[in-house]
Amino acid sequence: MFNFSYYTPTQVVFGRDAEAHTGALVKAQGCKKVLIHYGGGSVVRSGLLGRIKASLDKEGVTYIELGGVVPNPRLSLVYQGIELCKKEGVDFILAVGGGSVIDSSKAIAYGLAEDADVWELYDRARQAKACLPVGVVLTIAAAGSEMSNSSVITKDEGGVKRGYNNDICRPRFAIMNPELTATLPPYQTASGCVDILMHTMERYFTPNGTMDLTDSLAEGLMRTVMSSAKILRDDPKNYNARAEVMWASSLSHNGLTGCGTDGGDFATHGLEHEMGGMFDVAHGAGLAAIWGSWARYVLESCTPRFARFARKVMGIADGGTEREAALQGIAAMEEFFRSIEMPTNMKELGIAPSEEELRTMAHMCSAAAGGKKGSAKVLEERDMLEIYRMALGE
Ligand code: NZQ
Ligand code: ZN
Repeated sequence: MFNFSYYTPTQVVFGRDAEAHTGALVKAQGCKKVLIHYGGGSVVRSGLLGRIKASLDKEGVTYIELGGVVPNPRLSLVYQGIELCKKEGVDFILAVGGGSVIDSSKAIAYGLAEDADVWELYDRARQAKACLPVGVVLTIAAAGSEMSNSSVITKDEGGVKRGYNNDICRPRFAIMNPELTATLPPYQTASGCVDILMHTMERYFTPNGTMDLTDSLAEGLMRTVMSSAKILRDDPKNYNARAEVMWASSLSHNGLTGCGTDGGDFATHGLEHEMGGMFDVAHGAGLAAIWGSWARYVLESCTPRFARFARKVMGIADGGTEREAALQGIAAMEEFFRSIEMPTNMKELGIAPSEEELRTMAHMCSAAAGGKKGSAKVLEERDMLEIYRMALGE
């Protein structure tokens, strides 16, 4: 077990009609002017944006708006947001949406706090010293950005997708009404559930230092997300299942399921970020498409963890060798992905990278990680290329 620091400064306001508290929560921040940042229009169509504005109006909070965030949010809109906010004197960013909107908001908040190019953070050229405050009204259970220290931005030229982690960007508050997620297309609900699972799985698959309490929390979370995802496949309006995955989204990526470990593996995320940058795929679906290949590739270096996962999470019966259980557990997770119509390889994901594109992704993935990535097995560029090849699904 490793020493750890667990920092979760985000106030969570959870449940039906929670968004009615937005105005009061923003006002309590003592800011002068707010940017309401949102995506491609789902919050306009659902009427949520109107309710948020009414709540701000009621509290006398002044605001401006900027929509247009796309999945795999772009740096160009971040720059546009920074300029707009400078001109308007904005000192608080309210993200109304999912991971993409929240991450774009965090990037704007970093960009406003310091007089330097914000991309330098994502490009590992410097560390942030400051960040404006961000608040969240969450509309999709997935990325966990509503409580995480992370944001992921894609540079338009070359499709370079990069994450930057720093505790100073953790949102001040997160408003979570599970009912708001009932309008999600089934593909986004399922993709979100995979991302939630993966944030805990990335932390779970490590041979270095574990803690029984953390493992038990992680295993409970994974089982709950899988059973809730199946309920939502058949009954998308089920409030309790929506609530389970929404809360799991936050707990899976706020650090709780990594306490006492070495920080986890996160190679699957690194591999997916290159696929998202190059092919603009939904993040969770991309993770599902690569995970099985990653798991089989690293299995020998971390067999006891895969065997425990198989028995405690996937319900594989005792008996047989650890390796046999581990392989059955991987197959069972892929079967779960298929059951919620998620892909288990790139062909099913709908992409067919050439050998040259695979090499480019492996090279960029390795470079983004400073050469090596992973804990279950430390991967180098040649390992990443091999996993991509295994995941083609041809
Ligand atoms: O843009 P709109 O019209 O709102 O539509 C969105 C978008 O098309 C739609 N949507 C969201 N809420 C909805 C809804 N449609 C109907 N009803 C609703 N209530 O869903 C689509 C996906 O939205 P997006 O925000 O992209 O989803 P998600 O939360 O999965 O975020 C994905 C992004 O987060 C990054 C990913 O890489 C990706 O760029 N991640 C961020 C992390 C973090 N900051 O901690 C960690 C993750 O590992 C991840 O990398
Ligand atoms: Zn993720």
